[in-house]
Amino acid sequence: MLIDRYGRTATDLRVSLTDRCNLRCTYCMPEEGLSWLPKPEMLTDDEVVRLVRVGVERLGIREVRFTGGEPLLRRGLVDIVAACAALTPRPELSLTTNAVGLARTAEALANAGLDRVNGSLDTLRADRFEVLTHRRRLDDVLKGLAAADAAGLAPVKVNAVLMRDVNDDEAPDLLSWALDHGYELRFIEQMPLDAQHAWNRADMVTAGDILVSLQEAFELTPAHPEERGSAPAETWLVNGGPARVGIIASVTRPFCGTCDRTRLTADGQIRTCLFARDESDLRGAMRAGASDEELAERWQVAMAGKAAGHGIDDPGFLQPSRPMSAIGG
Ligand code: GTP
Ligand code: 5AD
Ligand code: SF4
Repeated sequence: MLIDRYGRTATDLRVSLTDRCNLRCTYCMPEEGLSWLPKPEMLTDDEVVRLVRVGVERLGIREVRFTGGEPLLRRGLVDIVAACAALTPRPELSLTTNAVGLARTAEALANAGLDRVNGSLDTLRADRFEVLTHRRRLDDVLKGLAAADAAGLAPVKVNAVLMRDVNDDEAPDLLSWALDHGYELRFIEQMPLDAQHAWNRADMVTAGDILVSLQEAFELTPAHPEERGSAPAETWLVNGGPARVGIIASVTRPFCGTCDRTRLTADGQIRTCLFARDESDLRGAMRAGASDEELAERWQVAMAGKAAGHGIDDPGFLQPSRPMSAIGG
């Protein structure tokens, strides 16, 4: 088991498969991109599967989510999913993607054993999409989400980040659209994880702002909180249910106390938290010949040192040196 000193147990592993992306969301990375991880430092497909296996067989990992950057850019993704689906006990397998390449891959991913997809979409307006992502790919995203739904990778969840004076007027439109398509929409408070370090607490669109905006068009009632468990999203029933909307209020209503996550970066480092200040090098240990048992022990030691919370509101808060795209969302 991966237990920290506050008694939290990590059963959910988030695996970043690449730090690259085919979009350039302004709140994530600059238009020119970043200096990507060099290939020799990236885990191979076999190394990724080995570490997932160690997590599943020895450490009680029950859910594995593949993230990026953009995980569909990883050539071996379908094979990695298939290998993870063959593990015992079989973990639940999901993917967080920008959905640009999903129309081509959804069916193959479902056949390989992927269970669910969460896609990202911050606007339904083509002109805004281009301003927000520096790419003209809105149609591809919409087709990708539909393909995931058709392939049974459901319920498809859609993550939206609202930014002041950019798309914060779109919350009700996004929700109407999600309800029409049977997607579960979650709004995310923007976190200080952008490569440009431009995040500003005062400009952030808060969960409170989002609720006010949604309540102008919908009747929202809190969904049963006892069902939340360690999920980041708080949920509300829309117009009496069963449809729902979620808000991931990492900043104004942090959920670190129930966190059940551990993270593996594309270059083989264990991170205990999105905001961790240090990492544990499983790639180096693995390439130096460590056994599965030694890797598991190293992982346990890392997790024991997990901090109580992200500390965004602490006076001395420092943003982590890696941006979100190199950690995995
Ligand atoms: P579900 O199992 O479908 O609920 O997935 P999820 O919400 O855990 O996964 P997803 O990748 O869609 O995450 C949505 C967003 O939640 C991320 O983009 C982050 O903004 C936020 N998030 C995920 N994990 C953490 C975490 O450990 N801490 C914080 N503060 N936010 C997180
Ligand atoms: N704050 C909150 N969410 C973010 N995402 C990317 N960067 C940030 C940030 N700084 C979201 C994306 C995607 C998910 C992986 O993380 O929009 O939905
Ligand atoms: Fe790419 Fe995701 Fe970052 Fe957008 S948020 S640039 S989709 S990694």
